[in-house]
Amino acid sequence: TPRIFSGIKPSGGLQLGNYLGAIKRFVQMQDTDFETIYCVVDLHAITVWQDPAELPGMTREVAAGYLAAGIDPERSILFNQAAVHEHAELAWLFNCVARVGWMNRMTQFKEKAGKNAEKQSLGLYAYPALMAADILLYHATHVPVGEDQKQHVELTRDIAAKFNHDYKVDFFPETQPVIEGPAMRVMNLRDGTKKMSKSGESDMERINMLDDADTIAKKFRKARTDAEPLPETAEGLEGRPEARNLVDIYAALSDMTPEAVIAEHAGAGWGAFKPALADLAVEKLAPISGEMRRLLDDPAEIDRTLARGAERARAIAAPILKRTTEIMGLIGR
Ligand code: TYM
Repeated sequence: TPRIFSGIKPSGGLQLGNYLGAIKRFVQMQDTDFETIYCVVDLHAITVWQDPAELPGMTREVAAGYLAAGIDPERSILFNQAAVHEHAELAWLFNCVARVGWMNRMTQFKEKAGKNAEKQSLGLYAYPALMAADILLYHATHVPVGEDQKQHVELTRDIAAKFNHDYKVDFFPETQPVIEGPAMRVMNLRDGTKKMSKSGESDMERINMLDDADTIAKKFRKARTDAEPLPETAEGLEGRPEARNLVDIYAALSDMTPEAVIAEHAGAGWGAFKPALADLAVEKLAPISGEMRRLLDDPAEIDRTLARGAERARAIAAPILKRTTEIMGLIGR
């Protein structure tokens, strides 16, 4: 069966972009012919400093987010990356396939490192090789992600192609990112030119999955917008990043197209649209956050679920890693 793999970093609480750009679609993909494998990528999280006292809780929070949103740990394989050591091993092998020049072109590293590239961990720099390992360890061909991960998935394809070419095999498949829908790049609520992220400096710029109804309403009420009302047609969103973002969020939450949202709210002022958006967000998110809280009350149960998933993941990963080492001429495994 064809496989889907995707992952989320436990580097902070889940935010709305993770839900709309990733988890919501992961859930839908369980109903396709693909085998679905979803991971909490803790080894990626530690490419920047994580307090060891907090990381377990964040790993469980991401797992709870997956489960609460509707990932069924029977139908999908749900686990955390560190529990399947094959990820780190294949990442090392890929470090020896990927080229330094390829890493130098990664925009995410440049954005995260800023002017301080020399001070970043070597792991942050090699991050895309670990991500390629995550995907190719399962011979996954389709990777649902938000827009910001597109370049990393394309690099995965380059690593697979170079491996196949250098070792004269047809072993790793071609992967493609699956980026579909209106909210593949949810923007920061205070600045429509920056993406919403777990680690942005102000909490007002993002909706956290665990925010309560009042907080969600307040954040949308204070979201930055321009002075114009909603346009009459979708073309009218051109050059209005904040307006577009709120319309896209509304569209994704309601499973409508942005065009349909505009048609329904044509000419509305923000004083009317923002409360409607907040109500919609609360209606869709409150059941998920409620279930997350319930699940987080029993961390041991989450750990058991993850451990069962890790066992199933390893059953697929181990033979693929073994074959990779054989192809490369490594003995003794
Ligand atoms: P991470 O943890 O930053 O984000 C998890 C997923 O959420 C999406 N996302 C967004 N989508 C829309 N708008 C936003 N503002 C937004 N913010 C985040 C991301 O695109 C992603 O799909 N490198 C990955 C994790 C990873 C991975 C993998 C993904 C590791 N190995 C293998 C796929 C396959 C990351 O940092 O995601």
